[in-house]
Amino acid sequence: MCYFCSTIQALVGMNYTINIKDRSQVVVGSVAEWLPRLLPARRVVVVSDTNIDRHYHTLVGEFDHVLIGLGETSKTLHTLDAIYRRFIELGVDRSTFILAIGGGIVTDVAGFAASTFMRGLEFGFVSTSLLGQVDASVGGKNGVNVEGYKNMVGTFTQPRFVICDVSLLRTLSEREFRTGLAEMIKSAIIADEELFSMLEKADFATLQSDAELLQELVYRAISVKASIVERDERESGDRRLLNLGHTLAHAIEKCSSKFNHGEAVACGLHLIAEAACRKGVLAKDACDRITALLARAGFVLEPPVAMSQLLKAVKKDKKAEGDDIYIVLPKNIGSCTVEKMPVADFKKMF
Ligand SMILES: NC(=O)c1ccc[n+]([C@@H]2O[C@H](COP(=O)([O-])OP(=O)(O)OC[C@H]3O[C@@H](n4cnc5c(N)ncnc54)[C@H](O)[C@@H]3O)[C@@H](O)[C@H]2O)c1
Repeated sequence: MCYFCSTIQALVGMNYTINIKDRSQVVVGSVAEWLPRLLPARRVVVVSDTNIDRHYHTLVGEFDHVLIGLGETSKTLHTLDAIYRRFIELGVDRSTFILAIGGGIVTDVAGFAASTFMRGLEFGFVSTSLLGQVDASVGGKNGVNVEGYKNMVGTFTQPRFVICDVSLLRTLSEREFRTGLAEMIKSAIIADEELFSMLEKADFATLQSDAELLQELVYRAISVKASIVERDERESGDRRLLNLGHTLAHAIEKCSSKFNHGEAVACGLHLIAEAACRKGVLAKDACDRITALLARAGFVLEPPVAMSQLLKAVKKDKKAEGDDIYIVLPKNIGSCTVEKMPVADFKKMF
């Protein structure tokens, strides 16, 4: 895979910029420098959560704000309804630019609200969590959960820009930082063996404190996603690769509130790597490297509920098509394959 292909523009000093589909500019660099350059000269309304507002209100203090609650329980149609009502109250119109500042929940919900209000407003993101920077904010998917099923309703709409400033991660809790590492490890397994090796070499404290290293790792992980989205924006082919570990992760999130998204992904990565190894698709030493890296990053790899309970939740995953499901299997570190199989066959793998 070419990470430095034409979609990935250039390295400008300490800034990395990537263009997706010529519609979405992703910048890994300073928010203070980039936000004034990227915000259009028209009315801006900010969507954020109460936590981010406490830490970063001054960054965007001059604009009207809509604040949402915290956690996956806020990623609902109810929250969406509250945002629409607040937009109406604020007199938001089709020329208003929506700026979401926050982690994956804020960008998923705000992206959906913006792309549907008045049939679609332009929007951009300042992504503040590691998971948001390496995954959720990039690629144009947004949405909310319904009846506890993840991301059941949403759109594919590219944000005009995404700013990923690693200095914002200093206020992120250790647990949330670790959560982002799970998606970074996922990207490395999908398509970047060197990123995987870099993660193996760095300890957790170094990752948190070495901004230059972190910036490069974030950029590499985004590059994996950007390059896949460039080829398959609407998930009819290669984009399915990004769901590595997610079938079981979503089932874990559905069955238990003990794990957050990244923790569930880490557990899902471990379980699918072991299954791929049992199936003879992944070599034992590569499987051991995956498990070792996840364990060293501090993840609990034992699922929080019985496997039988998780497998029951799999059928309702929105990626299921009738009785079939698309499963991503690691073949090596840096290479994966997508297989369509009956849900029953998937269950037999465990
Ligand atoms: N759209 C996509 O392609 C995509 C991809 C992956 C994940 N997701 C979604 O992303 C969501 C998870 O995102 P998340 O892990 O960022 O969760 P989150 O948005 O809930 O953020 C985690 C917590 O950290 C806080 N926080 C965020 N940035 C902070 C900062 N800089 N300082 C202090 N606190 C900060 C938030 O307020 C929140 O309490 C899930 O709902 C998942 O489904 C979407």
